[in-house]
Amino acid sequence: NQANKALFIIFGGTGDLAQRKLYPSLYRLYTKGFLKENFAVIGTARREWSDAHYQEVVRDSIHSLKVSDEHALEFSSHFYYQAHNVKDTEHYNTLKKLADQLDGKYQIDGNRIFYLSMSPTFFGTITKHLKSQNLVTENGFNRVIIEKPFGTDYESSKALNDEILEAFESDELYRIDHYLGKEMVQNILTFRFANPMIESVWNNHFISNMQITLSEELGVEERAEYYDKSGALRDMIQNHIMQIFSLLTMDAPKSLSTNEVRKQKMLVLSALKELTTETVQSDFVRGQYTRSLDNKLCGYREEEKVADDSTTETYVAGKLELNNERWNGVPVYIRTGKKLAKKEAQINIVFKQIESSLFSKGDTAPNILTIYLGPSEGFSITLNEKKIGLGMDTDIMQFDHLRTESMIQESPEAYEKLLLDCLNGDRTHFAHWEEVAASWKFVDKIRTTWDASTNKLATYPAGTAGPEAANNLLEKNGHKWIWNP
Ligand code: BG6
Repeated sequence: NQANKALFIIFGGTGDLAQRKLYPSLYRLYTKGFLKENFAVIGTARREWSDAHYQEVVRDSIHSLKVSDEHALEFSSHFYYQAHNVKDTEHYNTLKKLADQLDGKYQIDGNRIFYLSMSPTFFGTITKHLKSQNLVTENGFNRVIIEKPFGTDYESSKALNDEILEAFESDELYRIDHYLGKEMVQNILTFRFANPMIESVWNNHFISNMQITLSEELGVEERAEYYDKSGALRDMIQNHIMQIFSLLTMDAPKSLSTNEVRKQKMLVLSALKELTTETVQSDFVRGQYTRSLDNKLCGYREEEKVADDSTTETYVAGKLELNNERWNGVPVYIRTGKKLAKKEAQINIVFKQIESSLFSKGDTAPNILTIYLGPSEGFSITLNEKKIGLGMDTDIMQFDHLRTESMIQESPEAYEKLLLDCLNGDRTHFAHWEEVAASWKFVDKIRTTWDASTNKLATYPAGTAGPEAANNLLEKNGHKWIWNP
């Protein structure tokens, strides 16, 4: 593997994401040889930490990866800490000194990745200072990675985008949607376009409906302050679900290059049937969890830092439709929620049942293709066959291709892939501005309709499958959710 040269400057270096995802992912890249001698990391945050303490935190974060003490020490010796107030210009000068010094020490040749893992309210301030205080180098690459939430609606995300682009070029900006780094989400492209058998039936002649489910067992944990202002629509639909939706429905790109993939994703997003107040009311369901039936899990409004009368949705289900030749008449049902019965991310493609004089509809089951995105990973497909016996009765057969636990363990983590892509300058698996914008415009309509509506939120007891209204959404079209916890 080709070793990369880069200095990472992580804003939010003491944070949860850095410890849970970034340091383990950097470590994996290090063990695989994608990072060797010529890399260093500066962690910054407000609090005062010593390098020694920071390195200890980094070692703790990779502890579960079965590393030897010696290797962990070697890896963590590349980490440096600098207390930093993002609003203080003087602090950027200090940061620059350290960055230049490490650049020389590790012979990094000016390559810098600025990782903004903190509140987006600071993105503009940080990028402006990085530019004005010359942390941006002339001799190497300069790339900025930003975490969501990327704004709270189209207007705010546009303002944020414009602000960052005052200091950086658009191709230097990497907007993370970690779902795009997931093995099975990336597999959608391969599975669709490397298999003529699949791609040839991927249209409204054969498909009845599609379903995207991102069900979570966890609640809001320590993030209630953020979540209560966000809700499931902004937290999961605007980004992850809309990205999965575009990969599922787009036409074949001419190549797997960033531009070609983006072009197709944009085309399909622009074919989304525009929502009206009426269709939002009839085709979308929002819900909030209440205390669990066994009383063990509290309701959302009882969570710490959540208002007693909060109307934030912790669940959304809805129907998306496309106005194009391939997909006219095929609803794409989506749903996501917190504190549901089970963690499960999956896609179900339900094929039409063909009327035939040989078998009546009731004797055969629809063909269903399931793409397991996580925690299980793989595919399954159901077909009809002849039942063993003297007659001509039919039976359902199911082909499963599920990755084993150890395959999943060994496959690269989303953040690992995305960090490597960024090192390589590949933006294919990052969200592009046009996609982000289109998807905000779409969900903004839902948000404004809900905000203006006096309709009550649906509720569901924590630990269940979600509100009943989500079932009605499909039933009225003669469909039903394929996956049930
Ligand atoms: C994040 C959301 O983007 O995705 C979280 O902010 C959510 O609320 C998480 O829990 C789900 O990701 P994963 O990879 O655990 O399915």
